[in-house]
Amino acid sequence: MNLQRMIVLSSALLLAACQGASPSADAQDADTATPAPVAETQAPDPALLRAQAAAADFSGQLRAALQQSMQSGGPVAAVDVCHTQAPGIADEVMRQHHVRLGRVALPGRNRNPGQAAQDWQLETLQQFQQAVAAGEPAAAQLRVQRDGLPDGVSLRMMRGIATEPPCLACHGSAVAAPVQAAIRAHYPDDAATGFEVGDLRGALWVEVPAGQP
Ligand code: HEC
Repeated sequence: MNLQRMIVLSSALLLAACQGASPSADAQDADTATPAPVAETQAPDPALLRAQAAAADFSGQLRAALQQSMQSGGPVAAVDVCHTQAPGIADEVMRQHHVRLGRVALPGRNRNPGQAAQDWQLETLQQFQQAVAAGEPAAAQLRVQRDGLPDGVSLRMMRGIATEPPCLACHGSAVAAPVQAAIRAHYPDDAATGFEVGDLRGALWVEVPAGQP
């Protein structure tokens, strides 16, 4: 599978992904643009650029993989693809960009039990939750942390993942029975349904290690 090609296609087609970079212009900016929220800092920060590139690759590749499988096999097949391919995509992006990254679900609302938010991710996600509860858009949530980090970590970044219309097939409140069954087969304790469009679904996190790759 040619992933580079799929990333390009995916941003044009704006279809569903098993993860959540929003196809809206705002969220794409968060993926690709220069780091607006830290614009007051001087030169481009290589660690931040690395984190952003990795996040864009990860969300783009997940989106492409899901989109392709939704088109060829429908949502039931796409559940399997998400289940089998999502971890491999994360591993490959981490290797390429020399970062650690992943997705976490809203507290208590995870599908994959390994993606429950913990530690700093949980703390940041709770801040996002508060901001969204106060009326801010879920996809606009972004936090970059450079100070007070543990030894060996130079930067942490986290970005909110919004629920979009195509996500409802697998995360909404009226998931079709066959899709529900496919989800349950892999995730017996699934708590990742019942979301509405615009809801904060979770977050994408990136941790950049200190030193050059
Ligand atoms: C075809 C079904 C399907 C669709 C459509 C889908 N997802 Fe998922 N989603 C899954 C599956 C399966 C997983 C678990 C993947 C894994 O094990 O890593 C998942 C996991 C996630 C996670 C990781 C946290 C967790 O609970 O494990 C997030 C965040 C997420 N999805 C967001 C979205 C968003 C946002 C959309 C829409 C853009 C979307 N998903 C569309 C099936 C789907």
